Amino acid sequence: MKETLTIIDNRTDLRYEVPIHQGTVRTMDLRKIQAGPGDFGLMGYDPAFMNTASCQSAITFIDGDKGILRYRGYAIEHLAEKCSFLEVAYLLLFGELPTAAELNAWVDTVTHHTMIHETTKKFLEGFRYDAHPMGMFISTVAALSTVYPEARNVHDPALRHLQMCRLVGKVPTIAAYTYRHSLGYPYVYPDNELSYTANFMNMLWKMVEPKYQANAQLARALDILFILHADHEQNCSANVMRSVGSSQADPFVSVAAAAAALSGPLHGGANEEVLRMLDEIGSKDKVWSYLEQVKAGHGKLMGFGHRIYKNYDPRAQIIKWAANQVFEVTGRNPKLEIALELERIALEDDYFVKRRLYPNVDFYSGIMYQAMGFQPDLFTVLFAIPRTVGWLAQWQEMVQDPEQKIARPRQVYIGSEQRDFLPIERRGVRAASSAT
Ligand code: CMC
Repeated sequence: MKETLTIIDNRTDLRYEVPIHQGTVRTMDLRKIQAGPGDFGLMGYDPAFMNTASCQSAITFIDGDKGILRYRGYAIEHLAEKCSFLEVAYLLLFGELPTAAELNAWVDTVTHHTMIHETTKKFLEGFRYDAHPMGMFISTVAALSTVYPEARNVHDPALRHLQMCRLVGKVPTIAAYTYRHSLGYPYVYPDNELSYTANFMNMLWKMVEPKYQANAQLARALDILFILHADHEQNCSANVMRSVGSSQADPFVSVAAAAAALSGPLHGGANEEVLRMLDEIGSKDKVWSYLEQVKAGHGKLMGFGHRIYKNYDPRAQIIKWAANQVFEVTGRNPKLEIALELERIALEDDYFVKRRLYPNVDFYSGIMYQAMGFQPDLFTVLFAIPRTVGWLAQWQEMVQDPEQKIARPRQVYIGSEQRDFLPIERRGVRAASSAT
């Protein structure tokens, strides 16, 4: 089979042959297709990257039609069942599952990077009492760039490694401090004797007891959630991480930018919105009328739909299982009944079936987080902790990829042709008419 594409330009009757590589054509190969001398050449136009690959990646594989998600070739179901979060983080960042010795060394390194500088703690203290935790998280991660100025040497592999360890170690501390800040509680320093998630729970919930004892079943459920959220190939925030990082900005500000992208309600902010939606619905018997409103175009069903998954989101299925583990300890969240009814009706409804809209990762994670005692405005921060690993894996791959350059899309200009400059005293009539 010849791996090429032949294009006939009907404007000029010229034929072009462009290579196909791994199911793609390079849009730079279209540039030679010109309508005539002086023509810029053909470009691809793809708002929202619906059908454009921006990189080659060896990290995460998704088959949206079959509901498959793999990190470095391993099925998400196996990783969630058999690994700890830091084991999976190692896999994503370094490409292989660690040996026992490698895992011990990695856990030890991350554990010894959990403290944040006292001045960074003071920086956090400056936020208003009702500041949104995600805003605090984004700003504080960015502020780390001022503490570690050497991080800007993004082409030094040892320094890159150090910043990655720092970020993986410090994001739970920052996240926990945003939570304590919003409650007005004193911050709890990390405890090096605890696991990644047990230490996080300790920093969140320790009060006056000498040693906080995290519930092992809840700590494991949180670990599973972290595994499920660790990476998801070229999603909105990963694309931001790569794009900002492509300017050789340091990884702290790049992660802050990626976290800002995550905070939107169409991305990681959806888990918080799901809870608000379930609150708004209020009870099981109101589900049907709520869905009718969504179908009539009044808002979206939060936690439903995905750009890539069109049959089911494999993460949502594992979360449903993990949620039951949590409910065994905490009792059932009353919102679960509404969520289950919503899922049941939506999955049988023509509107959702036709558009292939299924529950995504955010649909059940919020209910589970709430049962564990988290307030909704912390949910997206909980997503950002594990996703920091994915952003860093994507960033490192981008930095090492000789094909990557500063990300700079083209545009199709649709504004005015060149116009004569209008002095200010002659602009009144146009300004008045366009303002109405
Ligand atoms: N509720 C109702 N209708 C929907 C929904 C929804 N949640 N999602 C998509 N649609 C409709 C949409 O209106 C459109 O209908 P029509 O063809 O009649 O115009 C059709 O389905 C296709 O949707 P789209 O907006 O073109 O799909 P997209 O791939 O651009 O958007 C999405 C994907 C995830 C942004 C979208 O499904 C959505 O907004 N979902 C709700 C927010 C959410 O749960 N986000 C979390 C995503 S998963 C985790 C993450 O990324 O962080």
